[in-house]
Amino acid sequence: LAHKQKLWGGRFTGDTDPLMHAFNQSLKYDQRMYKADIRGSISYVRALQRVGIVNEDEMHKMIEGLKTVLSEWEQGVFQVHPGDEDIHTANERRLSELIGPLGGKLHTGRSRNDQVVTDMRLWLLDQVEDIEKSLTGLIRVMVERASKEIQFLMPGYTHLQRAQPVRWSHFLLSHAFPLHADLQRLKQQIPRISVMPLGCAALAGNGFNLDREFLAKDLGFQSVAENSMYAISDRDFVVEFMMWASLAMTHLSRLSEDLIIYSSTEFNFIKLSDAYSTGSSIMPQKKNPDSLELLRGKTGRVFGNMSGFMMSLKGLPSTYNKDLQEDKEPLFDTVDTVSASFRIAEGVIATMEVQGDNMLQALKASSEILATDLADYLVRKGIPFRETHHISGRAVALAESRKCNLHDLTLEDFKSLSDKFDEDVKGVFDFEHSVQSRCSIGGTHIEMVERQIEVLRSSLGN
Ligand code: ARG
Repeated sequence: LAHKQKLWGGRFTGDTDPLMHAFNQSLKYDQRMYKADIRGSISYVRALQRVGIVNEDEMHKMIEGLKTVLSEWEQGVFQVHPGDEDIHTANERRLSELIGPLGGKLHTGRSRNDQVVTDMRLWLLDQVEDIEKSLTGLIRVMVERASKEIQFLMPGYTHLQRAQPVRWSHFLLSHAFPLHADLQRLKQQIPRISVMPLGCAALAGNGFNLDREFLAKDLGFQSVAENSMYAISDRDFVVEFMMWASLAMTHLSRLSEDLIIYSSTEFNFIKLSDAYSTGSSIMPQKKNPDSLELLRGKTGRVFGNMSGFMMSLKGLPSTYNKDLQEDKEPLFDTVDTVSASFRIAEGVIATMEVQGDNMLQALKASSEILATDLADYLVRKGIPFRETHHISGRAVALAESRKCNLHDLTLEDFKSLSDKFDEDVKGVFDFEHSVQSRCSIGGTHIEMVERQIEVLRSSLGN
């Protein structure tokens, strides 16, 4: 490719190898930032006018030109030139075509190094706003379901073994809370994303006494980067966002895994709606939870984006190196993946059917899930818990040897294990009683679950 077509072609005599041009070119993906790039340039022109590099009339012409470039992108008529390397060179090239040599004043004291990372930050700030909305929507749906289905009881699991009865809502909220923490973590990143690198130029700073505080205000940044060398080489915010996304997706993957298990015929606790399931090309009966499997699977992809880019960053020498261009594809892919994932998860949870009866059946089929309650019963009769744990365990073993349920043991059976057992032991075998006994904050008592719903509702606002 002819070096004359490059914005930086002055010192070159040889042309770029075509494969190298394609290898180096980022326009095919960084054109997503066209709006941020033009926003940055418009503010930059205003700052240039304030220090006299361009006069008012020139400023207006340049801003008009930049707005035309923007509308070309928006209408999908922007013509990519073979020499365009990235969104920055493409926009500047087009501006000069539109307004002539005056366009050549735009890049005064600016480098693509401060420009690109300004664009990335502006772009990401917009995306974060959007992701915040979709994550909030997902949590809201979970909270509303929890509120409606608070009467449903189910087996709670540890090690995927039936452990203790819980409210279905308590389970659902156990996944809403980590996502709510992710929502807070997302917002807490904003001050670190909203730092303006523009006016740091290539690495040493701006040579035209540009008012960077004016620029930051004009672009809506919360603060101004203090060290130009750090500012242009800093991709911490990209890594932090991708680490955040990895954790949020990890939470989604655990929720997905639970729901996949619960939707199996073996459990039959929930039924996914047709809208979020797919069939098999050979087995006519199949209805597969592909939505949830993809949420689980895409977690690996998001984690890979994060760790892959960390590998690119590791050991880079100071300031800008072209390796940094590798920040975009993983970031864009991560943003796309988490945005879609929250929306899909919201749809799955809003539309699935919860089979409260089957959950109750599962509880009834295994009253040994109340063995802790049986031990607690004896504690209330004055026996130390370590002993009651043992006695209750022997009751479970006895029922197992008889191939019967724990609640089928007779009072004589119980009395043979401890003389503290009484007629009222039958009261232990009541799932509602069991959940209502967990009445400290955080427990599965109805009021404590309502309290959780309140906490989340008031945090999310209306
Ligand atoms: N496309 C480049 C990137 O994404 C822009 C910065 C280029 N800077 C440079 N010194 N070559 O990183």
